[in-house]
Amino acid sequence: MSDIKDVVKEKYGKAALRVTSAEGSGCCAPSSCCSSIPGAVDPITVNLYDQKQTEGLPLEAVLASLGCGNPTALAQLNPGEVVLDLGSGGGIDVFLSAKRVGPTGKAYGLDMTDEMLNLARENQRKAGVENVEFLKGEIEHIPLPDNSVDVIISNCVINLSADKDQVLAEAFRVLKPGGRFAVSDVVVRGEVPAEIRRNVELWVGCLSGALDESDYVAKLARAGFEDVSIEPTRVYKVEDARDFLSGYGFNVDAIAPLVDGRFYSGFIRARKPGDRA
Ligand SMILES: C[S@@+](CC[C@H](N)C(=O)[O-])C[C@H]1O[C@@H](n2cnc3c(N)ncnc32)[C@H](O)[C@@H]1O
Repeated sequence: MSDIKDVVKEKYGKAALRVTSAEGSGCCAPSSCCSSIPGAVDPITVNLYDQKQTEGLPLEAVLASLGCGNPTALAQLNPGEVVLDLGSGGGIDVFLSAKRVGPTGKAYGLDMTDEMLNLARENQRKAGVENVEFLKGEIEHIPLPDNSVDVIISNCVINLSADKDQVLAEAFRVLKPGGRFAVSDVVVRGEVPAEIRRNVELWVGCLSGALDESDYVAKLARAGFEDVSIEPTRVYKVEDARDFLSGYGFNVDAIAPLVDGRFYSGFIRARKPGDRA
């Protein structure tokens, strides 16, 4: 398990440094989390946010976006609430949450990669926002007390964890009664032969494997959540991964029916039982 964490840290540490150096060179590099072709447009991370939403955010926070969805566009966030972003990267969703919960609320970002935390904290300094705090730590061991968070968001991070049950148990622990889980993640639908599944997952960047949608729902229910649902937000086509898969020797046209529509980014909602205070 620690091997996967090391690989994840190395990969996202480099991604953070690419943003910092793109800033220095004046280059345009929104660093793809998964594309196998340098400079290619990444169909997973591209165009997740509209310009109006990111207006006023530091450019480096936008460039560092490596998610697969736009959780704050779909989550209900109210003034005064406490939000926690699991795997906050350069901080884009933390800053967007902070705007929504306002000065009486707070947005935490949690990440284990030092380079990403440095980038996020520098972005916070540039943005001059005070109701934000970036914490160092692992999403499997959230450094916050029980019942202290109103909303958990996350953007394409839980698929990277080798212990998803532990992540969901921790999310449940820190949420207040009635608290909301509102997360974007890559999900698999239905049976896909193991070898194809593994390669598409690698293309997407899911180092430890994406969950099947029914497993995701079952794991959330087992962790204690209720009102669980998954809404597909972007469905991937074999065409998106053609170069990557043919590089691994697959006859892409032949496997298209096994891939098309089976891998998607989804918005996952759930609620911790209990009445909100
Ligand atoms: C795919 S990037 C997404 C970053 C951000 N959510 C976004 O949308 O741009 C994954 C981030 O999660 C962090 N991460 C991955 N696994 C983690 C773990 N187990 N604990 C804490 N952070 C983790 C990585 O360091 C990286 O910054």
